Amino acid sequence: MSTLAPVRSSHTVTHGPGVRVRPKVIGADALVPLDDGRRVPYANLDYAASAPCLEAVHEAVTRALPYYSSVHRGAGYPSQVTTDAYEEARDTVREFLGAWRRAAVVFTRNTTDAMNLLAHAAPRGTTVVVFETEHHASLLPWRRAVRLPAPATPAEAITLADQALADAPCGPRLLVVTAASNVTGELWPIRELAKVAHRHGARIAVDAAQLVPHRPLDMSELGLDYVAFSGHKLYAPFGAGALAGRSDWLRAADPYLKGGGASASVTASRTRWASAAEQRHEAGTPNVLGAIALAAACDALVPHWDALAAHEERLLNRLRSGLAAIPRVRELTLWGRGARVGIVSFTVDGLPAREVALALSGRHGIGVRDGKFCAHPFVRHLLSGDGTAVRASFGVGTTEEHIDRLLAALTRLTGELADSDDWSPSPM
Ligand SMILES: Cc1ncc(COP(=O)(O)O)c(C=O)c1O
Repeated sequence: MSTLAPVRSSHTVTHGPGVRVRPKVIGADALVPLDDGRRVPYANLDYAASAPCLEAVHEAVTRALPYYSSVHRGAGYPSQVTTDAYEEARDTVREFLGAWRRAAVVFTRNTTDAMNLLAHAAPRGTTVVVFETEHHASLLPWRRAVRLPAPATPAEAITLADQALADAPCGPRLLVVTAASNVTGELWPIRELAKVAHRHGARIAVDAAQLVPHRPLDMSELGLDYVAFSGHKLYAPFGAGALAGRSDWLRAADPYLKGGGASASVTASRTRWASAAEQRHEAGTPNVLGAIALAAACDALVPHWDALAAHEERLLNRLRSGLAAIPRVRELTLWGRGARVGIVSFTVDGLPAREVALALSGRHGIGVRDGKFCAHPFVRHLLSGDGTAVRASFGVGTTEEHIDRLLAALTRLTGELADSDDWSPSPM
């Protein structure tokens, strides 16, 4: 359907005459059909699943295409241009994450791939300490993991990690934690957790999939050993993500994929693998355009952090206070207060999450996510049992109208529920 295809936005996000304060996304003016056949502008409140593409990212990929060619081994001019762009993308990601000069940056498919790469590279016998509140990408890849319960406060998170690392058997240890929850948006105390990990001789790996689209991150300053994130959540939906961090485990591990690029020399009897972490774990032809897109997103976001934070804070306050005022709607939160990014999950008493999500789409042109958000133990904890929730998440292209539309739609839905309650015959 051509009208559903992404269209270039004519919406200019400005602050004062001509001064753009937020980068623009493709599809900001996309129309979507409602159940009654009308078409309305799409209210995308599903950024946490996959964010729309930034115009700057699209432009960077378009610019790269005429010279797109093989990387690393080609002698032709386009190969040289493409190789330079690919390696520059690595430098840009390193800088974006505040990683040290010699930190490894391995391009992966996404956060899941990055965490699995780290699980593969961690020395045999590594004890991994992980909270049950993690997304499955960070919860499941480990061979030997100690799972910690959901902490009641950030301070308890630190105490629990401290205790678990103190009790861990000798040998390598790794604490794995999210920087921002994909369910509640709440920020985790990663600086303090890094200190605790290091006090016990452990390393810390941070799942930054939901943080880096919203806030700057400085690995060196925070003392993080590894960071994983996804391009498609960072406005660069071209299939690349990254694992950044210490190179020693990566250099010592068998290649994640075995094949061309990862091998330094091959004879009939022996294969010698490349010693650099990046080469060793990026066998085969890499996703060059994905890496270029990722770097373009990093470059595009950095000048806007202050404006983005202010924008997000405004929308978050509007959404959370609006939800709190709607009867039957309950926000899911682990700690209740504290800093968070633009992700809010909630339930509607008396309505399954799926029905709410479908009604929001079909009647109001609003896209949200429903379910357990690949964080089953955490959602079970928040709901005190089995169940599902609705998640609204937003970013650079979100407007106040989108938030207001969601609140009005929920007010209407819950009002209809109340009417149907009143209507139902009371038992004699
Ligand atoms: C916090 C967090 N970690 C990891 C992932 C997995 O990301 P991907 O599907 O890009 O691998 C997600 C995706 O929703 C996430 O929100």
